[in-house]
Amino acid sequence: MAELVKTLDIYNVIRRTMGCMDNEVMRHGEITAYIFYNMLLAEGIYTDIELGEYTLIGMLHDVGIIKTGFKNKSGVADYETNNVWAHSVYGYLFLKYLSPVEDKADLILYHHLPYYLHSRIKSKYLKVTEYLTLADQMDVFMRMGGQGMEKDYFVKQADIKFSAKALELFQQAQARFHFLEKLKTNQYIEELQELFEHVALNEKTKKGFLEMLVYAIDFRSQQTVIHTMSTKTFAVELGRLLRVPTMDLQALYYGALLHDIGKVAIPTAILEAPRRLTDKEMQVMKAHVVITDKILRGVMDPKIVEVAARHHEKLDGTGYPRGLRGEDLSQLERIIAVADILSALYGKRSYKDSFPPEKIKGILQEDADGGRICPKVVGVAISNFDQIIQHYEKERDVTMERYIEINNQYESIYARFKTFET
Ligand SMILES: [Fe+2]
Ligand SMILES: [Fe+2]
Ligand SMILES: [Fe+2]
Repeated sequence: MAELVKTLDIYNVIRRTMGCMDNEVMRHGEITAYIFYNMLLAEGIYTDIELGEYTLIGMLHDVGIIKTGFKNKSGVADYETNNVWAHSVYGYLFLKYLSPVEDKADLILYHHLPYYLHSRIKSKYLKVTEYLTLADQMDVFMRMGGQGMEKDYFVKQADIKFSAKALELFQQAQARFHFLEKLKTNQYIEELQELFEHVALNEKTKKGFLEMLVYAIDFRSQQTVIHTMSTKTFAVELGRLLRVPTMDLQALYYGALLHDIGKVAIPTAILEAPRRLTDKEMQVMKAHVVITDKILRGVMDPKIVEVAARHHEKLDGTGYPRGLRGEDLSQLERIIAVADILSALYGKRSYKDSFPPEKIKGILQEDADGGRICPKVVGVAISNFDQIIQHYEKERDVTMERYIEINNQYESIYARFKTFET
């Protein structure tokens, strides 16, 4: 079967998503990843797949800040110097419980742990973590123009903040590849693109990285945590029942998974508002679908983009953002619209409980009769209601378990890190 989503697409979606959250954070991730990649290349013992995975981890090393937030004005400098443990622990937990590279999650957990404390921890990945730590600090140093850090910081801090061996490898890599020069000309962006064009991660790994990204974004708000997963489950299940071809089912899966990724740019206060939104807040909220479009267009397969970008469109033209009409909307786009509504009706929100099945069916039927959503899709949803819900409840339980596990683990790991400070 043709490949619907390529490794390069995954990288680009991660890059654009982080850029929509904060451009400086994205740049920091990208440059750290690039320095890290050059060091690994200079060491010369890694396979292409390992290089690809490590570079993606480099890109995502600060992903925990999606949850912890930061002061926008001082951006990277803020979260990389104040309270570094919070984002390290969340990033670690996201990687460990939600990603396909859970064994390498230690890299993120320890990326701010000073080298002199490494004797107090155990990890198979300490050596590589030392490289990531140095790459990270190099970019922070360059970013701050040396302000607040001494000129000879890297000489003085060798074997204290980071390992002297990592510094040596950095210098070797620079002597061989002259990568610092490429940072100045933005040539590094092309090189990273080439790397991911060349590396072929398997389907499971690609899906896993995207699922982790999406889940990390949803994790800011309890109410959205299961929404994405349930929309995805409903959409794929409806697609299957409607016998859409396998390739389209894949497009539906990816489109549903990514449909609310634009929420990365919506303030948590609006996502979490314990009431119905005001008109003004609703306008902000509605922008999420425009941002989803912006992130995916030109990167993902057009079918995936349209599934994601049109999930709030209605057959009668009353939807958003474009007010498209029935004749513009494909079967896949009609399916996701129903899946999204079903997820909202069945899910609990801070201002409402889950509706009982009869009420949900009634609302769907009314929307179909009113010409807003597809009667054929709704018909299938209603006649297979119990089966669809059963499927969903299984998925929901798995998602909730992981959510609870991450929250529980956070407290205890964070407490352990605090003891390192004394
Ligand atoms: Fe960090
Ligand atoms: Fe960082
Ligand atoms: Fe949405």
